[in-house]
Amino acid sequence: MAEFMGNLRRTDLCGSFGMKDVGREVVVMGWTQRRRNLGSLIFVDLRDKSGIVQIVFDDTTDGKIFEKAESIRSEYVLAVKGRVRERESKTDKIATGAVEILADELKILSEADTTPFEILDDTNVNETLRLKYRYLDLRRPSLQKNLFMRYEIAKAARKFFDENGFVEVETPMLGRSTPEGARDYLVPSRVHEGCFYALPQSPQLYKQLLMIAGFDRYFQITKCFRDEDLRANRQPEFTQIDVEMSFVEKPEDVMYPIEGMIKNIFKSAIGLDLGEGHFRTMTYADAMRDYGSDKPDTRFGLKIVDMSDLFKNSEFKVFTDALNIEIGPIRGSVRAINAKGLADKFSRKDLDATVELAKTFGAKGLCWMTYPTGGQIKSSFAKFLTEEDIKNITERMGFEEGDALFIAADKDYVVFNTLGGLRLSIAEKFGLVDKDKYDILWITEFPMFEWSEEENRYMAVHHPFTAPMDEDLDLVESHPDKARAKAYDLVINGQESGGGSIRIFSREIQKRMFKVLGFSEEDIQTKFGFFVDAFNYGTPPHGGLAFGLDRLTMLLTKDESIRDVIAFPKVQTASCLMSDAPSPVEDKQLKELSIAIAAKKGE
Ligand code: AMO
Repeated sequence: MAEFMGNLRRTDLCGSFGMKDVGREVVVMGWTQRRRNLGSLIFVDLRDKSGIVQIVFDDTTDGKIFEKAESIRSEYVLAVKGRVRERESKTDKIATGAVEILADELKILSEADTTPFEILDDTNVNETLRLKYRYLDLRRPSLQKNLFMRYEIAKAARKFFDENGFVEVETPMLGRSTPEGARDYLVPSRVHEGCFYALPQSPQLYKQLLMIAGFDRYFQITKCFRDEDLRANRQPEFTQIDVEMSFVEKPEDVMYPIEGMIKNIFKSAIGLDLGEGHFRTMTYADAMRDYGSDKPDTRFGLKIVDMSDLFKNSEFKVFTDALNIEIGPIRGSVRAINAKGLADKFSRKDLDATVELAKTFGAKGLCWMTYPTGGQIKSSFAKFLTEEDIKNITERMGFEEGDALFIAADKDYVVFNTLGGLRLSIAEKFGLVDKDKYDILWITEFPMFEWSEEENRYMAVHHPFTAPMDEDLDLVESHPDKARAKAYDLVINGQESGGGSIRIFSREIQKRMFKVLGFSEEDIQTKFGFFVDAFNYGTPPHGGLAFGLDRLTMLLTKDESIRDVIAFPKVQTASCLMSDAPSPVEDKQLKELSIAIAAKKGE
């Protein structure tokens, strides 16, 4: 039978006790982590959000309360009054390990069934079960710590915005479906038969309208929704720290002030001082050239090196075919990474596995060349190599005894994707990454457009409202592939934590952009009508960016999965294992919405 707290009121949190409290009479409340019965003594580890304290029930002091304590089981919720005393056998396994509380009053506030898994941090219970009982999983200190850290991050961001003249404005969750990259989550309207709202993929259009409205500096910590394939760092609903500023024209006008927010967050959440200077900046072109990625992890080397010029007249068709590629603006190349000193770690089987891995990144194949210590150079394409080739490769790559070289030849983007991917997997496998380090850098000068082989046309890399770099304005029509944007991403430890751009505020430039993207006047009106109209009524130069709060939290808690920093996350199939969302609804609800379920896919 559950008891009421009665006259007991909590005086302290379980994790707060130390020698300073010895002799105090206290009341604590929490969950039973474990109970040990040693005959005339019962020990209970009582847990709340702050930690654990040991409670002692002594048969010789109070038989009645001892008898009650015998009925305590794991996860029972207790209220205990008692006196803090020094422990005979101290432990440093828990923060309160120097003391314990000798109980003189006990109330069992709530009993608990046997939980489906033990509430322990180093649990090996599978995640499916933990997500089904997420509220129990969330009792684990590591998850609690993550959510408290998430709160600290949001708080530090808010403090920064508050001190720097930003105002938080809420924008609608029920909006209009506009093309913005990912698939929308749609919400049917009851009143407007056959019409749908879309949940926001980001507040992009609204925040720009707020600049036109004169709010000058906006921020919002808000949910965004994207119906896209999930990965370890993606959720269908996630939270953005979203920012927009007026009277900014250069990327640095946004990047520099926002560095202050990131510094605030690091300081408050993990006590790390990122120093005075600006963050490092790397252009997109350099990032791709050296790391094969627009979110390079530069905590380790393994840089990509271009060898195209060495193989122009090669006998090896794989290389020359790649070098002759010309599809729209797409070109091909031969590039390599040198896994220094790792040759002996690659068995023949490992080399084959690396080739297979390269294929998962889109490569048709991968050439390798190894020089085992004390051995001979071996290569998957030895018969096509001349002495001269080996000499050239050796020189260009700094290839020495003990090294393993991986070469990709294909369209540039395939080469980058492949070697960029291999770089990460080799670094992970051989422990080349210093996990204690924070590697923070801006990637700038993104291309404005990318060529879509599928659609045979240019698409906006960021979104159609991103401003071109002033010096590239004339390239927008003549060489769209060469035009660079005033766009920037903040990359932390090889993850895109945030990004944004300076926006187009000139009607004339916006028109030119739409033209390159192949939008007709009619397309523009139907797709972005209300938005482009607004630009006719006085638009300040503006720009902004958005950070993923979930991703920032993951980076600071050093968790591998985004689910570990979200209270109630979804799984790969975008469902919630605890509530079973999404679920079928009643026919009556569908009828009200004038919706009928057509045959399901595959039926
Ligand atoms: P972008 O699409 O780059 O930009 O998103 C900004 C940041 O949001 C986070 N993010 C995600 N986090 C978890 N799950 C997802 N599915 C997910 N998708 C994105 C990332 C990313 O860097 N409106 C523009 C910003 C701007 O131009 O101001 C935007 O949304 O951390």
